[in-house]
Formats: sequence, C-alpha cells, structure tokens
Amino acid sequence: MTLPHSRIVGTGSYLPPRVLTNDDLVRQLAGRGIESSDEWIVERTGIRQRHIADEGVASSQLAIEAARRALESAGLAPADIDLIIVATSTPDFVFPSTACLVQKALGAPGGAAFDVQAVCSGFAYAAAVADSMIRTGLAHRALVIGAEVFSRILDWNDRGTCVLFGDGAGAIVLAADERPGVLAARLHADGRHESILRTAGHVAGGSITGYPFLTMDGQAVFKLAVSVLDSVARETMAACGLTVNDIDWLIPHQANVRIMQATARRLGVPADKVIVTVDLHANTSAASIPLALDVAVRDGRIRPGQRVLMEGVGGGFTWGAVLVQM
Ligand code: UT7
Repeated sequence: MTLPHSRIVGTGSYLPPRVLTNDDLVRQLAGRGIESSDEWIVERTGIRQRHIADEGVASSQLAIEAARRALESAGLAPADIDLIIVATSTPDFVFPSTACLVQKALGAPGGAAFDVQAVCSGFAYAAAVADSMIRTGLAHRALVIGAEVFSRILDWNDRGTCVLFGDGAGAIVLAADERPGVLAARLHADGRHESILRTAGHVAGGSITGYPFLTMDGQAVFKLAVSVLDSVARETMAACGLTVNDIDWLIPHQANVRIMQATARRLGVPADKVIVTVDLHANTSAASIPLALDVAVRDGRIRPGQRVLMEGVGGGFTWGAVLVQM
C-alpha cells in the first residue's frame, strides 16, 4: 500500500573513537614547519576538535554503525528496509556503491541500494530522493545515511583546509506513514561554481590522474553558502506555507559556526534554536546534518511533533533543504 507521506522513525550516528584536538593538529603542523593555532581555528571556524578514522576504516564501516543505531532507535530490523541510500564523496570504492556494502553487512538483500554524490549537500539530496521514492510507492522503509572519511582526501600540509574537516556518519530511517513527516524539500546546483571546492583526481590506467586532495576558495564558498542557505530555507518553508516562527530547530550544514550564525541572523532564527556540533565534529560533509540531528534527538532537545529545518551546502556547487515534522 502506498501511504501519502514519509516520516523519520529513527536516527543514529557513529564517530570513529580517535579525537584530534586543535592543539594536537597544531603540534603536528608545527612539526612540518606550518604555523597555526587553536585561537585561529576557533575564532574563524568554531571548530575545537574532530574525529579521525583509523587507517583501513572506510566510510561503509562508519555507515554500518550509524545505520544499526538508527534501526535500533526505530525498533526495526534490517529485513524491514527496502531502500538504502548513502550520501558520500569518500566512498570505499569506485564501485560497488557504499550502499551495497552497507546492505551486505546488515544482511538485508533485495531492496534498492545506491550512493548519492552531492558533497556536503548529499544528505539533503538523499533524504529528498528517499522521500520521493516512498511517496510514489517505490520504497516503504529507507535507510538514509551520510558517511565520510574526508581525512583521506585532505592535504595535511594545507593549513587552509586540513583544520576544517573530520570523519563520521549519521543515519535516519524514513518510513511510509499516514501522518506528514517530510513537509517539503528543495534541491539546487550551479555547476558554474564547480572549481571553488573540489577534489579533482580520478583513477585511470591503474593510478590517480589529477590532484587527489581537496582544494577550496574559502572566501568564495563562505559567501555563496550564506546566500544560498538563506534563500533555500525561505523557499522550503514557503513551499508548505510556513514561516520561520513555525520552525523549532534549524540544522544547517556544520562547516563553520560563522556561516551558521550568519544564516540564522539573516533568517531571524534565534541562536538557541540552531543545533551546533561543528565544535566537536568539524565538517563531516554529508554526515554533518544527520550527525547533528541524532545528537539533538538523543539529548532530548528535538522532540516528537517539532519542526526541524535541515540545510546542506557544498561542492558542485550544490545546496538543498528538507523540512520535517518529527
Ligand atoms: O562544506 C563547505 C566547506 N567549506 C567551507 O564551509 C569553508 C568556507 N570558508 C571558511 O570557512 C573560511 O573562508 C575559512 C575558515 C576557510 C578561512 O577563514 P577566512 O576568515 O576566510 O580566512 P582567510 O582565508 O582570509 O585567511 C586569513 C589568513 C591568511 O593569512 P594572510 O594571507 O592574511 O597572511 C591565511 O593564510 O589566515 C591564514 N590561515 C591560517 N592561519 C592559521 C589560513 N588557514 C590558517 C590556519 N591557521 N589553519
């Protein structure tokens, strides 16, 4: 039976245990003759630490842990899932998809499984796709996961980027329901800005061709991010006839606390309604929104019935928002 809506019925997340504080990282950089400081990183980004996956630990392993926790909180078994979407820009392999590896590990064969690559907007894209598939009857219960090991694509000698990112995974279970859960979603991209944030390498002839590390024009990304996070939030609220006063929580992509503060100010959202985890997780790209959602659900801030506006922005250039009633 096709039900009219999809709802979030479970959340989960997983962070690799190894924590790299700003002081640890600054010491490592100093050892290579590169100057930085905890003060600079905190003042410019709000980041205090990040989690880093041990060598050999891949995105799928982080995704599997987050998925298991989301299933447990939903009270569902892997066999109940007929769709797995993993948003990632750091997949285990060129192929098969990380989602197929997650499906194998969970022991839930048969349903659809694929990855979505929209960089830091990946979770918003994946959640919007899963919602559409559930509402059209193509799927009934979906695991939507953001999982990343960005530590693998960082140039640890580039102080302008290596201080910004971390590893982790977050997941939701989205299920068909009579009651509205996902109220609206809006997705956008503007490929003309592809060069301001990219990892422009690929595998060819048995080796990597091009530059395999993340490069970024930080100021260009900053300006564009603040502008599109404002516009897509307004567009998504308007799509379901809501205003900022109807929103209980804002979860912007966790990249930089200054981007989040500027977005909240422009929208007129008070700071205490913004979920912030970037201080502890840094930027985990596609994992950042579901990680922050899970933290705030588990610590009791986000409660059933509340409206949560989640917004992603990142490489591509891509952006998108998903407005849900919990
Ligand atoms: O998912 C989206 C991913 N990306 C983002 O969200 C990034 C968006 N952009 C930003 O968050 C900010 O642009 C940054 C945090 C990356 C940089 O902040 P900023 O205020 O734009 O600084 P800046 O790039 O203008 O750099 C200021 C100075 C420069 O030195 P000079 O040229 O003024 O001498 C940098 O070389 O800070 C220097 N700098 C550092 N100093 C100490 C850059 N990185 C560091 C560092 N430690 N880690």
